[in-house]
Amino acid sequence: MNKLRVALLGAGFMGRAHSNAYRQAPFFFKLPYELEMAVLCGRDLAKLQAAAAQWGWREVSTDWRAVIARPDIDIVDIALPNARHAEIAIAAAQAGKIVLVEKPLAVSLADAERMVLTAAGVPNGVWFNYRQAPAVQLARKMIDEGLVGRVYHFRAQYLQEWGIDSSRPASWKTDRAIAGGGVALDLMSHSIDAALWLNGPIAEIRSLHATFAPGRDVDDAAAAAVRFANGSIGTLEASRYATGYRNRNFFEIQGSKGMLRFDLEDFNALTYAESDGSGIRRRIAPTEFWKPGHPAGYEHTFIATLRQFLIALKKGDPLSPGFGDGLEAQRVLDRIIPGDAS
Ligand SMILES: NC(=O)c1ccc[n+]([C@@H]2O[C@H](COP(=O)([O-])OP(=O)(O)OC[C@H]3O[C@@H](n4cnc5c(N)ncnc54)[C@H](O)[C@@H]3O)[C@@H](O)[C@H]2O)c1
Repeated sequence: MNKLRVALLGAGFMGRAHSNAYRQAPFFFKLPYELEMAVLCGRDLAKLQAAAAQWGWREVSTDWRAVIARPDIDIVDIALPNARHAEIAIAAAQAGKIVLVEKPLAVSLADAERMVLTAAGVPNGVWFNYRQAPAVQLARKMIDEGLVGRVYHFRAQYLQEWGIDSSRPASWKTDRAIAGGGVALDLMSHSIDAALWLNGPIAEIRSLHATFAPGRDVDDAAAAAVRFANGSIGTLEASRYATGYRNRNFFEIQGSKGMLRFDLEDFNALTYAESDGSGIRRRIAPTEFWKPGHPAGYEHTFIATLRQFLIALKKGDPLSPGFGDGLEAQRVLDRIIPGDAS
């Protein structure tokens, strides 16, 4: 099988990001498969037709069950609101498809566990796309090479400010029935994945959360103090009420040999300081997409995630990050806001 026929479910923000990845990936990288953008699936036919014409999807559908039942679909990619992930991913896995799901994997630990069990026999991936930011890849490499040493601290923030704007139209993101929860599921899930991937399992958690909007039933802000299994301690913070930040995704790791810092607002750099007392912080500019020093962007995280999935598929390896990684993040989320993600 050298061609993979893709059905993408969802034509919103992530629908665009994933469409762009399917379209661009073959131009950037020599991929092990040819990709066919077969079906774009959603709710609104007119919007789907416009999006399909824009991005080059061959067909559209408003019936995800019919799409999953089709023998000519290899990949089912779910870019729908959180509460839709589990049912569709399970149905797609039962139909033997390769299943890709946006983060968070699910809205409850029980659903995430069911998804992992059901999808055990098929390739499965989760779009924790920030792992593929060139600076985050470099951070992982430098940690593996021992340049951080024994880790003392990992701290992360994922901050947005749109919650403050009361004139903003209501979104599914603040509707518990569709979002499953609030900012912890939505944004802290990225920080938790970074924490687990770069610093290992979390052993102990103390957390607080708040809802600022009257009448809202999801968390607007959440903060956790965590102890990792490796003995380091740190903090995770997420908010939709963080005045001044449209989309701050930040983490830093401090260890016996050095410090590493990633900040999405400075996407094309990784900051490194050696623990030599000099106080010098170096700004490293990793590049994977263009020539050295030529900046990459947000969209490349999706293109590179897709490439990783396809390479693993060709080798017969588990996709990474996979549903198992989504489940590990869900376990942490479930402890940060008990009952929210469960
Ligand atoms: N990896 C990332 O950086 C990232 C960024 C944003 C969102 N996400 C995730 O992607 C998924 C989709 O988010 P999005 O930002 O694309 O959302 P969006 O609102 O922009 O698009 C949602 C899509 O789902 C469809 N839909 C189906 N059922 C719906 C319902 N009941 N309510 C609302 N829309 C419904 C909409 O028609 C639309 O096509 C979510 O799970 C979200 O957490 C990931």
